[in-house]
Amino acid sequence: MARRATKKETIEEEAERLRGELRRHEELYYVYDNPEISDAEYDALMQRLQEIEEAHPELQTPDSPTVRVGGRPAEGFNEFVHRRQMLSLDNSYNIEELRRFDERCRRLADERAFEYVAELKIDGLSLALHYESGVLANGVTRGDGRRGEDVTGNVRTIRSIPLRLNKVDLKDEFEVRGEAYLSRETFERINAEREESSEARFANPRNAAAGTLRQLDPRIVARRKLSFFAYDALAGDRKPFATHWEALEWLKASGFQVNPHRALCSTIDEVIEFCNRMESERDELEYEIDGVVVKVNSTALQEEFGQTTKAPRWAIAYKYPARQATTQVLSIVVQVGRTGALTPVANLEPVQLAGTIVARATLHNEDEIRRLDVRTGDWVMIEKSGEIIPKVLKVVESKRTGAETVFQMPTECPVCGGHVSRPEGEVVARCVAADCPAQLKARLLHYASRRAMRIEGLGEALAEQLIAKKIIGDVADIYKLRVEDVAALERRAEKSATNLIAQIEASKTRDLPHLIFGLGLRHVGERTAGILARSFGSLERLAAATVEELDAVHEIGLTVAESVRDWFNDPTNQSLCARLRAAGVRTEMEASTAGAGGDGRFAGKQFVLTGKLPMMTRDEARALIEAQGGRVASSVSKKTDYVVAGEDAGAKLEKAVELGVDVLDEKQLLELINEAANKNERREVA
Ligand code: IVH
Repeated sequence: MARRATKKETIEEEAERLRGELRRHEELYYVYDNPEISDAEYDALMQRLQEIEEAHPELQTPDSPTVRVGGRPAEGFNEFVHRRQMLSLDNSYNIEELRRFDERCRRLADERAFEYVAELKIDGLSLALHYESGVLANGVTRGDGRRGEDVTGNVRTIRSIPLRLNKVDLKDEFEVRGEAYLSRETFERINAEREESSEARFANPRNAAAGTLRQLDPRIVARRKLSFFAYDALAGDRKPFATHWEALEWLKASGFQVNPHRALCSTIDEVIEFCNRMESERDELEYEIDGVVVKVNSTALQEEFGQTTKAPRWAIAYKYPARQATTQVLSIVVQVGRTGALTPVANLEPVQLAGTIVARATLHNEDEIRRLDVRTGDWVMIEKSGEIIPKVLKVVESKRTGAETVFQMPTECPVCGGHVSRPEGEVVARCVAADCPAQLKARLLHYASRRAMRIEGLGEALAEQLIAKKIIGDVADIYKLRVEDVAALERRAEKSATNLIAQIEASKTRDLPHLIFGLGLRHVGERTAGILARSFGSLERLAAATVEELDAVHEIGLTVAESVRDWFNDPTNQSLCARLRAAGVRTEMEASTAGAGGDGRFAGKQFVLTGKLPMMTRDEARALIEAQGGRVASSVSKKTDYVVAGEDAGAKLEKAVELGVDVLDEKQLLELINEAANKNERREVA
């Protein structure tokens, strides 16, 4: 907890110490996703610093972590002239074009060997950050590439942007460029909040990020939770590193978030392999990407290749094919969600889209239908992004025949006939019947879903039968199911019934974040569920938390706090929790993952790194291991669990073999991390 100034420490020193501690914890939290202290402890430090700065305004510094809490509204933004033009990129849309880019580079390099760096093209907006003597002085949008807008107050609220740099081995002025973006989860949360307060939804995370950065009130920006990936460093108008890869490493070491998915490639085929691999993994990322950026690694060659008016000759964007298509709306139906929300969905003439056949698209709510003016029979353009179900972008008006029919929202629940209510000023209409089977089905499926309690085999058809036969009345009833009950249902083989019961049994030991997520509280997504689980440690303590206690948790706002309190105030939910506990469902945080070290699967495991790894630096490997809760030691002993050995590994490898310690190469380490990450599901690794 926040230590007060002692006699030996002046108030000024205390403020400086608190700033240092807060910065370190922010970096651990936002950059490494590996906090060392609880949110409450972090908040206590922040509060103490705020108290000091309020009492002694002369001690306030422009890089103090307190400025993130949000400053005063700006009158407008000033223009800022970029020291070096912010270029855009030429695009390539297929492999041939990428190969042509390679041929041109090879010609320009004139037989000299060189490498490429392939990295993700994040779908956000670019920012230039100016640091003066290591302190963030200006944050500027790209604008037209020559002049942008100074949005410093807003940029300071972005937690993954260091306000001061850890390691300033570059003196004086320099600049960091990168992409500000919103994660899909934050984007969804913002849209849900906008829906609740009857504002129009943002069309995509990039628009939402751009709209957010141009907000005049930094307090609103702070609440929106933008993130930032750094991808370039400049000193004045020069590039200070010999290679792009080194620049990325330096950015990482300086406390920036650098996207972990990147590859150093010596041939265009390796670049293509990276492009293809990331395209297939695209939907698993927490943020949207629209392609891959390929850059010549050597700074000297970059300077030599030069640029056209708008774009460099040493880089190209490889754009993934747009996942859009045009098709016809056959009908508009209404689905009932787990909170009773009625969601209109368009049934479409099936169409091929990014390798899948799409037959439905969400229309979100009645206002969205009016905004788009979608009618049954319309031709529409649809888009698939990270969401499972695609959305309608617009109506193709030129294809209207006049035979299209306007949709009316039902006044009764289409499933149970219950009353539908849409209070004044709200966008969402809800079925208010407590026993609506559609709501129950949606709750069951959510509880059993992979990211929640992962009960494979509990699918739509089975859920419907169990509800119709009144075998299941709430999610706790899942744990009363016996093989005979399931096998007795239509077309269920004994074997699949046995498997299902085993899955149900296994779900009892799922960790607390999954349970909290699975209970489906409004506004509690996967990440929020993780924060709540780690902050309170058990379902019981969460249930007992007051709105103030919840609101005091770092990253939990009032909307979530009130929603959580409301949910636990409901007697039905209280008895549900009691019955889940009685059934043996784990309601405590798993010991190895609670508290310090986060929820890493490597908790308690000791690693030693030796030799040169093919893709990663040791620091990167260390960060990855630590992000999973593991520890990296410098020497091999009996306590070592794994030795990760690269090229030219020497004595440490011999010692490992001698002691019988497991030896991994880089690939095996990544596999192990991937396994761990899949178990954790919150984290991404390269
Ligand atoms: S490099 C000269 N790297 O894409 C190089 N840009 O279409 C210019 N972007 O304006 C940018 N991810 O906003 C670069 N890893 C990445 C990027 C990236 C996203 C955006 C950036 C730029 C636009 C160009």
